[in-house]
Amino acid sequence: MHRTRNVKRLARLGHVALLCGCLLVSTMTTTDAEDRSAAADIEQRVDELLARMTLAEKVGQMNQVHAGDMDPLEELGDALRAGRIGSVINQVDVATVNELQRIAVEESRLGIPLLVGRDVIHGFKTVMPIPLGQAATWNPDIVRRGARIAALEAAKSGVNWTFAPMIDITRDPRWGRIAESPGEDPYLASRLAGAAVEGFQGDDLTAPGAILACAKHFAGYGEVESGRDYATTNIPENELRNVHLRPFRAAVDAGVATLMASFSDLNGVPATGNEFLMRQVLRDEWGFDGFVVSDWNSIHQLAVHGLTANDRDSALVAATAGVDMDMAGSVYVEELDELVDDGALDIDVIDTAVANILRVKFEMGLFDDPYTDPDALPAFGSAEALATAKVAALQSVVMLKNDNDVLPLSKDGLDRIAVIGPLADAPYEQLGTWIFDGDPELSVTALQGIRDLVGDDAKIEYVRAMETSRSKSTAPFDEATAAARRSDVVVLVLGEEAILSGEAHSRADINLPGAQAELVRRVREVGKPVIAVIMAGRPLTLTNIVDNVDAILYAWHPGTMGGPAIADLLFGVESPSGKLPATFPRMVGQVPIYYSQKNTGKPPSPDKIVHIDDIEAHAPQTSLGMTAFHLDAGYTPLFPFGFGLSYADFRYDNIRVSDDEVALGGTLTISAELKNRGDVAAEEVVQLYVRDLVGNVTRPVRELKGFRRLRVEPDETVTVSFKLHTDDLAFFGRNNELMAEPGDFHAWIGGSSDTDLQTAFRVAASD
Ligand code: NOJ
Repeated sequence: MHRTRNVKRLARLGHVALLCGCLLVSTMTTTDAEDRSAAADIEQRVDELLARMTLAEKVGQMNQVHAGDMDPLEELGDALRAGRIGSVINQVDVATVNELQRIAVEESRLGIPLLVGRDVIHGFKTVMPIPLGQAATWNPDIVRRGARIAALEAAKSGVNWTFAPMIDITRDPRWGRIAESPGEDPYLASRLAGAAVEGFQGDDLTAPGAILACAKHFAGYGEVESGRDYATTNIPENELRNVHLRPFRAAVDAGVATLMASFSDLNGVPATGNEFLMRQVLRDEWGFDGFVVSDWNSIHQLAVHGLTANDRDSALVAATAGVDMDMAGSVYVEELDELVDDGALDIDVIDTAVANILRVKFEMGLFDDPYTDPDALPAFGSAEALATAKVAALQSVVMLKNDNDVLPLSKDGLDRIAVIGPLADAPYEQLGTWIFDGDPELSVTALQGIRDLVGDDAKIEYVRAMETSRSKSTAPFDEATAAARRSDVVVLVLGEEAILSGEAHSRADINLPGAQAELVRRVREVGKPVIAVIMAGRPLTLTNIVDNVDAILYAWHPGTMGGPAIADLLFGVESPSGKLPATFPRMVGQVPIYYSQKNTGKPPSPDKIVHIDDIEAHAPQTSLGMTAFHLDAGYTPLFPFGFGLSYADFRYDNIRVSDDEVALGGTLTISAELKNRGDVAAEEVVQLYVRDLVGNVTRPVRELKGFRRLRVEPDETVTVSFKLHTDDLAFFGRNNELMAEPGDFHAWIGGSSDTDLQTAFRVAASD
């Protein structure tokens, strides 16, 4: 058994546990001689195999191919026999995958098995909420379990490598790929990145059902200008290290086997050719020993960016920068042999890349057992898979508004319920983006979920009202308002179809599309309570509907089991417990708006802002406050990061620190009391924020440093404590070195990033 990556993962978990402070030190079971010898054994096998390989076979390992619409066995057979393919992408028929493996293993000279890659982003057949929705759970455990289900189902089809987790930090909801991301915060993203890696790869990479994870897109992709996909990114190194690289570091610490280079241009050097990222940071500083794959054809695109003149130069630049495998580009396989033969590229670069790839193949146990036995793995859409998808959906939904406690609904008190909207009964759309293999037949829609829960207790009247979420016709609205008039309550299921978010699906206007705001207005006029359930791949600007509804459940794209989860939340079987992983702007012009911004030299405050409508004619230029705000939007978001309401009445109180002062290298505890003053038990995500008042570089006004999801019974008071080591306060300073400084800090605990329950402490220099 080859367990190097797993051993490393466990060893590093101990480190992470300490750094996170609030994590329990995990079960660090083994770093013993047996495991070290397994690692040495793998290195020896890699070396021996490498020594037997021709240059052509080495380059073959660096080549990932797809068969397009062709018969893969015919299309790829000869190249496999010649040892010119190291990995295939997008093959999910298990018999075909096994046959491709058989050709590679039995008919090529060296019999090196294949990696079989696929985008299994938030589920395979059973679909979990989109990753942004999973981030709203603030629950690493459910992310881990969701990834585990995805791995088991994907592995049953012969897939042994997923291109997930996507861990790009983004503060731009225009970007379609925010749907795939963990949102805006590096700490939350880091915790979830580690959990996803553990879920996909498991404790033992050789076990059936374990698949390789791929942390992507390395790095900075979430900063694409104006949220336009593939656009340029310019991120100062300090910001890159303090924000964007942190989740990748966490994934590496969790033992992720592979990383994917980003499509985007980073500070003038596209990530695919960026030596700083892949050599200096990833290999030299972090000691990563897995391999890096390009994004789809992104080596070829180096010339399109204008970094290189042609494919030959692109191959040279990408290989030198540290891209080990070419995804679907054919550039390596067409250029690298000659580059080495000509002496333009050192064979050591090739040997290192190939060793990285072979190491992972050995760690997976592929040389010993290359084939997939689908019968050894659970059925698709198993009871466990569906149950996990339901819990994930339940915890992902964020209640943004609940005026007069209109929710939860009581099925006893209602005779008729109108369910209206284009996403109420849309089994495919609720799955969201990136669901190549997702099975809409497994989906339970909101309409079905409500029907199942309500049974004969109330009559449900359904009006779709819009053909798609983008429809502009208001003709069917009369039918919708008539249904609303006949009903006691209206549930409007609105949002974006799946195709409006994801790769290359960015929007400049992030209002509800089509005539949805008008539908809300028309239904509102009827005068019945209106509940909006919103399914979307991004934070939408809800300013134009928020006052026309009584309650909002923000469900993202909730996946296969979205319907039952939404029904349970509407009727109070469970309390909403999701919290926003990204700030909701009032207007798109506020973007980027995020909680952990810097203070600026002229911070705004309520008394120092003036609304554009209140400016008097001929007002002096300096009469408007002269602070950092927008005349038409102020400076606050519509809903802040970390926000989410509950059916319980949670009150936070009595924040305190164990020590007013802690020396560098020490640990202190920050705690607060959380009381449930309501009459239902509910889960709450308790959040710890810190501000470093003076820094070697300016520090954010608040930074998330810990969180915990817990269940609190009515009338129960729990004390929630977070341990904070001074290393947790470290940041990259002016010289881009990690540093923890003495000084004064503020800390807050609460249920949202705008909590005002505050304390303070001081970090002193160590003796
Ligand atoms: C392009 C996307 O950027 C990446 O996330 C994905 O994994 C690859 N295509 C493979 O489909």
